[in-house]
Amino acid sequence: PGAPLVDTHGRVHRDLRISLTDKCSLRCTYCMPAEGNEFLEKDSILTTDQIVRIAQLAAASGITTFRLTGGEPLLRRDAADIVRRISAIEGPNGRVQVAMTTNGILLPRMLPQLIDAGLDRLNVSIDTLRRDRFAALTRRDKLDEVLAGIRAAQASSLRPLKLNAVAMRGVNDDEIVELVEFAMEHDAQMRFIEQMPLDAGHTWDRVQMVTREEILEALGARFELAPVPGRGGAPAERWTIDGGPHTVGVIASVTAPFCGNCDRLRLTADGQLRNCLFSTSEYDLMPILRADASFALDADDAARERHAAGNWTGSELAVDAMLRSCIHNKLPGHAIND
Ligand code: GTP
Ligand code: 5AD
Ligand code: SF4
Repeated sequence: PGAPLVDTHGRVHRDLRISLTDKCSLRCTYCMPAEGNEFLEKDSILTTDQIVRIAQLAAASGITTFRLTGGEPLLRRDAADIVRRISAIEGPNGRVQVAMTTNGILLPRMLPQLIDAGLDRLNVSIDTLRRDRFAALTRRDKLDEVLAGIRAAQASSLRPLKLNAVAMRGVNDDEIVELVEFAMEHDAQMRFIEQMPLDAGHTWDRVQMVTREEILEALGARFELAPVPGRGGAPAERWTIDGGPHTVGVIASVTAPFCGNCDRLRLTADGQLRNCLFSTSEYDLMPILRADASFALDADDAARERHAAGNWTGSELAVDAMLRSCIHNKLPGHAIND
């Protein structure tokens, strides 16, 4: 622990995305079947203590940003507690950042607690502004709840606030301009995402996919766009709108992959490390965690002092080794099988 997380292609990893639960309050057609997935049993999900301890180990090795995702992360009852404990972690470069990607539904209720807990940034998914389309796409009639969530985020101090829409032909590709205007009204940055072949139903096809180029064409017909330099490892390419200050982003995972600068790694709700969204190999932390009931038993402060003194337990070293082998084996780019 303590050495930077560099892969065999020289990419330094600084971003860990942690899925808090695989459950969701929506059933987006591009993500889940109508009946939902076979959700994980409670006893196969990482405990809060385990998540925090893994985050501490990752931070010690240079992870600076943690993004909490799902499923829908706010369905986990202790989401705010997890934010509080992760955002208290000091890495070698200071306090870490904690971000969240949510469907927005629980924000009106949860946002004050999340901000108090130290949440730094928020991304909210909204694919359409039309109630009937939203209900068809997510199979739940909850657009009003999501809109209330976005208003709560707008009223908060969290900036930049980002809104995500997966662009879909014949579904929302005629709303690209409206979504940008909506985002600007809410002081948010709209981002359009090329649909990736991640759906359970295997209905994705490259020809149906709305491309980066098409998204830019729709935007360019209405707005004056100028590229924002300095993307770093971020998935989104950005443009200022009509001279700014607002910007719009495109995440072109399929037609313009950004793997060369990828600095991310993932932890699933059931304790598997993954080096890529598209990776098929998993690095399972559960056997290590199950074999050590005391893995995350000492309090955060006590563990911090122990780590600062270079005193790691055997299972912490095993988790660290798993983290390193996961990164070591990362491919130079993703393979989208279509
Ligand atoms: P920021 O740090 O705010 O830019 O967040 P983000 O864009 O990384 O996170 P978010 O959860 O909002 O994801 C937006 C879209 O980017 C989603 O469609 C993700 O699936 C996609 N995405 C995030 N990380 C990766 C990645 O490593 N590879 C690919 N191909 N897509 C990714
Ligand atoms: N392709 C692209 N984006 C997706 N998301 C979920 N599934 C896909 C997919 N197959 C988006 C969600 C959310 C973000 C976390 O990922 O809409 O905005
Ligand atoms: Fe999947 Fe996100 Fe839609 Fe939930 S809100 S069904 S996790 S894409």
